[in-house]
Formats: sequence, C-alpha cells, structure tokens
Amino acid sequence: MIKQAIIPLAGLGTRLLPLTSVFAKELLPINGKPGIEYILDECIEAGVKEIIFIISKKKKMIKKYFYNDKFYKRIIKQKKDPRIIKEYRKLLKYKKMIKFVYQNKPLGTGDAVLKTKKYIKDKFFLMLLPDDLIVKKNCTKSMIKIHKRYSSSVMASMNVDKKTVSRWGIYKINKIINKNNFLIKDVIEKPSVKNAPSNKAVIGRYILPQSIFSKLKKQKAGKGGEIHITDAIQSLIKENNKFIAHNFPGKYLDCGSMNGYIKSTIEISKL
Ligand code: UTP
Repeated sequence: MIKQAIIPLAGLGTRLLPLTSVFAKELLPINGKPGIEYILDECIEAGVKEIIFIISKKKKMIKKYFYNDKFYKRIIKQKKDPRIIKEYRKLLKYKKMIKFVYQNKPLGTGDAVLKTKKYIKDKFFLMLLPDDLIVKKNCTKSMIKIHKRYSSSVMASMNVDKKTVSRWGIYKINKIINKNNFLIKDVIEKPSVKNAPSNKAVIGRYILPQSIFSKLKKQKAGKGGEIHITDAIQSLIKENNKFIAHNFPGKYLDCGSMNGYIKSTIEISKL
C-alpha cells in the first residue's frame, strides 16, 4: 500500500510572475478552492495517510494557511459562522496529515525530492506536482492499482503535441503491457523536437521507489542547470528497475501558466 506522498512546492513559479513575486501559486483559487486542496483531496481519496510538503522560506504562507489556529479560534468565537467553522475543520483535517520540509535554494525537482529522504518509510512513495491537476477521475487511485498489480514504479502519462515535447519528460516504450500501460525504456527531460524519442509525456504523478534517493545523492545538474527527478529515474531504468507509464483516466489541467490557470478555472467550473 502507498501511504506517503510528497509534494514539491519550493519552485519560483516564474511563469506566473508578477503574482508569484509575493504569492504562492498553489493557494490561488480554482473555482473558489485553492489548487493545493484538489491535490490533497486526490491523495486522501486514494488512501494516502501522510503528505510531505517541500516548501521554502519564501513560500511560508503555505504553512501559515494550515497553521492559523489562533486566528480561526478568535473569529469563530466572535462570529459563530457555520461556513467558517466548516472550513476550519477541513484545514485541521489536512494539517494532521501534513509535514513540512524546506528546500531554500530551488536547485531542481530532484534536489527537492532528496530533502524528504529521512521521512520516507516504505519501499515506494508517491510524488504529485501541484501544477498538474487531474479532474473527473482519481489518477492517484488508478496508479496505485497498477503499482499493486505489477509491483512496479509508475508514472502518469499522456500523448502530447509533438511540437510541445520540450516542455515535458518524454519516454520511449520498451514493451506494451496493454492499451494504457507501457514499460519504459528511456525517459528524457525536456528533449528538443529533433531528439524526442516519442510524443509520450510524463505528467506530474509518480510512484517512486526508495532507491531513487541514492541516485539523487549522486545526480548532477542537467537541462537548465537543475537537478531533475527525470534524470535519476533514467539512471534507475538503465539498471533494469521497472517503470510503467500509465495513461491515466481523467482530464489533465495545467495550472502552471496564466493561460493554463484561466482555462483550468473555466473547466472546473463546468464540472
Ligand atoms: P517547475 O519546474 O514547473 O517550476 O517545477 P516552478 O518553479 O513551479 O514554475 P516555473 O517553471 O518557474 O514557472 C515543478 C514543481 O517542482 C517544484 C515546483 O514548486 C513545482 O511544483 N520545484 C521545482 C521545487 O520544489 N524545487 C525546485 O527546485 C524546483
């Protein structure tokens, strides 16, 4: 069973500047609810018991969002508003499950993951990227099923427009397991159109093995000078570790750019 999830939140969010110069994008409301709460609800519904947030000093407002008890207690005493009481109870429920670790220099997703090493107890754990919302169906739940069936690491996958491959981790198939699941031969971080092995992209949901940490310790900076989780995964694949790409059910929404964020709000308001 997958009981722990990690969520990297320590990036700079440059695509949403100037907003992100003062605000954590993961708290932006999407149809009235902060983006991060969609991710938390997906985890909880899939049976995850503990969630580790990787934040930075600059993103302390994320911790404050869950740790503002004095403020709520005072307001609730004054106003006794049932809506506020309900929202506060929901935050308390989330808070019980969340641990915070810090990555104060944004050296890349791989470095962010490494910060959680001492907290990970089981052989496999989950990682979710908060910019990637998946609605209509629970992607995490579906990936956990695949993990159980094949005792394998799993990454969410979808076909993308060939022209956009340089935005993603792109993989090459080793073996087709069935129509939605593929054994991966190679995964390459943000390849050029010319060097991309396919148009099959990895989306921000991963079931990773604990052995990723020993690879991350040695991982050198790659594309754009950052330490990428994709490069550590590629090292594990090259040593015959099984990684399955899972074409997930549900609809993918990209909230990491302003255009994507606006579209996501519209899509979710129609659900
Ligand atoms: P991105 O590479 O998409 O970066 O990170 P970003 O900072 O969020 O946004 P842009 O590209 O500058 O607009 C993917 C995820 O990994 C986290 C980010 O917070 C995001 O959730 N991340 C990235 C870290 O936690 N640490 C890092 O060093 C880099």
